[in-house]
Amino acid sequence: MEVYVFNNYDEISNFAAKMLVNFINEKPDCVLGLATGETPVGMYKKLIEYNREKIVDFSKVKSFNLDEYRGLSGSHPQSYRYFMNENFFDHINIDKRNTFIPDGTCEDVEKECSDYEDKINEAGGIDFQILGIGSNGHIGFNEPSSELYVYTHLASLTEETRKANSRFFKNVEEVPDKAITVGIGQIMKARRIVLLASGSNKADIIGKLLNGKISTENPSSMLEVHPSVAVIVDKEAAAIL
Ligand code: GLP
Repeated sequence: MEVYVFNNYDEISNFAAKMLVNFINEKPDCVLGLATGETPVGMYKKLIEYNREKIVDFSKVKSFNLDEYRGLSGSHPQSYRYFMNENFFDHINIDKRNTFIPDGTCEDVEKECSDYEDKINEAGGIDFQILGIGSNGHIGFNEPSSELYVYTHLASLTEETRKANSRFFKNVEEVPDKAITVGIGQIMKARRIVLLASGSNKADIIGKLLNGKISTENPSSMLEVHPSVAVIVDKEAAAIL
């Protein structure tokens, strides 16, 4: 695992964006795995600038997001489809038909999950996966548990996660208690993984991520056995390394 520690959020955003730009320039038709949450927003902003300056071209890129809330349609302001359009896709030259996010309002969840898994595999798998991390160690919506799912599935969100994500909703009751998320298997199959974390509320979990032990109670710890992971953190998130 490579660990990069920077002074602040702006620096991690810029560094991650540059890594991704270099990657896309080497493989213009690559498949990206994308994440939501506050952490990658700065990186998306930089990528938008680089795209405007024609330093990077997304026209041949495909993307698969990690997850979507169950019950929220893409037009719901708190859905991850809406988030991705607002913060990224609407501002770059990606073909929206090449951007995939699970459908939170699908009728048949099992089918949606297996179709999503198939679509990723048919695209050749994820070349470059961006990850944030929940303060409880969740990646995507793979929550701490005695068992983790390999494949895309309907996940139940922990109260801790619902509380953490309630900052985007009116109150915690409005936060869906389920989400469709890719499983640990698809994340671990990504050829390159870049995990971003910022702020003191991530310090504990970043310490655990790098402690040389694996536990399903800390889903992010699975990354310790992946051959190509970069962890990019600011000083606050790196406080107990
Ligand atoms: C959500 C997302 C995760 C994300 C996490 C951290 O629950 N499903 O993919 O990594 O939140 O979010 P933030 O970056 O806002 O701390």
